[in-house]
Amino acid sequence: MATMESSAFSTFLASRRSTRDFVSKSVPQKAIDAILTDAMTAPSWSNTRPYMVAVATGEVRNRISTELQRRWDIASKALRGSWWDKVKFFLKRDGLPTSDYRVWRPYPADLKPRSNKIGRDLYTHLGVARGDKVGRDEQWARNFDMFGAPVAIFVFTHKGLPTYAVSDAGLFMQNLILSAHARGFGTCAQGALAVWSDPVRAEFTVPKQYKLLCGIAMGYPSNDNVNSFRAERLPIASITIPLAD
Ligand SMILES: Cc1cc2nc3c(=O)[nH]c(=O)nc-3n(C[C@H](O)[C@H](O)[C@H](O)COP(=O)(O)O)c2cc1C
Repeated sequence: MATMESSAFSTFLASRRSTRDFVSKSVPQKAIDAILTDAMTAPSWSNTRPYMVAVATGEVRNRISTELQRRWDIASKALRGSWWDKVKFFLKRDGLPTSDYRVWRPYPADLKPRSNKIGRDLYTHLGVARGDKVGRDEQWARNFDMFGAPVAIFVFTHKGLPTYAVSDAGLFMQNLILSAHARGFGTCAQGALAVWSDPVRAEFTVPKQYKLLCGIAMGYPSNDNVNSFRAERLPIASITIPLAD
């Protein structure tokens, strides 16, 4: 049985952070294949592997990114605009989410403080002031350029196994992200890349029983300040359910 020193493994796990700025250098196909092969060693419900991936590089990646940025531009301007801008946006429909999952669903009240905190911490790190809506939108817009990553991996899940397909896909994604990290690549899982699914479907022959869950940006991390951001890691007590009285 293969083992490794547990403290080395813990250090490796703790050293992974989401990368939000990449250099444009392309990732060799051999590396992408090796990472996907590692990802496929994740456990899966009845070994069904109810997920598929669409790997976008080069022109395909650029076309998807251009279209997502175009839609974000329309949507963000409308949502920051007057009530009439919003009405026009809903009537014209161009830029309205076309996601397969409800990506924009509000966070439950008990989890909202955590999501608020990560947003606040990240913007503070980047020097974006609290009320600076334009600065926040600009950082959000970077999602749709996949933060400059040369590779975007779109993860789809099978409609027929809703909950466990998503759970399996999560395990697959974590293996993928860690394998990339072990090879010196940065990644960022991005729910933002699932807000509009049709630009991805236009580039790939996605079977109709598969739904777009999220994307993962992958490439070589740059030295940009955003990559030195360290998200808070919560203590295990915050997720441990106490015994009943
Ligand atoms: C399913 C999923 C979707 C995510 N979506 C986004 C996203 O759209 N944009 C983004 O910048 N980060 C996104 N993240 C990254 C999280 O914000 C990040 O993992 C979290 O803040 C913890 O930070 P760390 O990955 O550096 O440990 C996503 C992460 C996951 C797992």
